[in-house]
Amino acid sequence: STRLSPSPTPVVDVHTHVYFPRYAAELRARSSAPRILTRTGADGKPEERLLILDGEPGSGRPVGPQYWNREEKLEFMKRHHIHVSFVSSANPWLDFLPAERANTLAQALNNDLEEYCASSPKADGFPGLRSIYGFGLLPLVPHIPISSVIQTIEQIKTLPHVSGVIMGTKGIGKGLDDEALEPVWEAIESAGLVVFVHPHYGVDTQAFGNMPNGHVLPLALGFPFETTITITRLILAGVLDRYPNLRLLLAHSGGALSQLSSRIASCIAHDPVVAKRLQHDARYYLGKLYFDAVAYGPEELGFVSETIARAESYNATGGSYNADAGSTRMLFGTDHPFFPPLEGSQKWQSVEDNMKAIRNVRGWSESAQADVLGHNALKLFNLKY
Ligand code: URA
Ligand code: ZN
Repeated sequence: STRLSPSPTPVVDVHTHVYFPRYAAELRARSSAPRILTRTGADGKPEERLLILDGEPGSGRPVGPQYWNREEKLEFMKRHHIHVSFVSSANPWLDFLPAERANTLAQALNNDLEEYCASSPKADGFPGLRSIYGFGLLPLVPHIPISSVIQTIEQIKTLPHVSGVIMGTKGIGKGLDDEALEPVWEAIESAGLVVFVHPHYGVDTQAFGNMPNGHVLPLALGFPFETTITITRLILAGVLDRYPNLRLLLAHSGGALSQLSSRIASCIAHDPVVAKRLQHDARYYLGKLYFDAVAYGPEELGFVSETIARAESYNATGGSYNADAGSTRMLFGTDHPFFPPLEGSQKWQSVEDNMKAIRNVRGWSESAQADVLGHNALKLFNLKY
């Protein structure tokens, strides 16, 4: 089709969270983490706090309508010139629930999500698009019959605005490299759903000592290491060999995966247990993955992009690549409503840092920037405007 005037870049946020009222109610009814509790605030008024991380400092974090009110999400989007959001339930999803309850709640929350998206306004400036789409939930908890997980995938296929699922790293108890999940990967791959792999548990909290460092160590290090370990295990289990069309989107730019990918490849090559197991050099698999651009700095984005581009060169003979190449697999995100402004400012530094980072990657052309800001997401989710 011909464009009469240059169209502005759609800005698409693929990493933005909600707690639906039904889910918040579940957390409020609990007396141990994960939970929402009410305490008396400094102003003498009751305030709600979110306690979800393992070993979290007693008071947790503030939680409020920014987590469940769609008007606040739309207001946030407008303020930051975000046209489309792919919302996902925030951690820890259904992980802590008994199988039966997780199953019922997954289906109910997927219906809530479809309704939330379908009734959202059209995207400002891109009337062919809605402003909100979503990632659904699967009841991945211990003791769940795999047939229930498959049924939920079938449910999601019927929900037009739900284009994928968000997934933690535990699977049904043994992690995502569990053989029991083979039918799940197969069903997800054939349904064409995107899997957003997101951390929650971090690493052994003993590693973080006991100085009062707030949430810095679990969020800055624990989260991305958890993702790094999970994806490395998936690669080692051959999941990416068996399901080459599976589309996995990794939170926080894949954690340390890019930085460690040559070391992983080398350790595999030198280990008799796994040396002949995989169809490809470990670095190849980075070119099969998608990475959000939630890394907060241009150098980090550029580095991830180079490792993706290098992976793609493992397909070809000769293997030279240009700096733009890896940007086709990277997608803007915000992590809203986490990391809010500290001083009641209207602007979210976390969002501005991520936008600025995309604009300042050395070697990314304007068209690469536009891809990361929005076009890649529209392509990944088969949306046109
Ligand atoms: N903190 C969380 O608990 N989850 C996120 O997604 C981001 C920050
Ligand atoms: Zn997140």
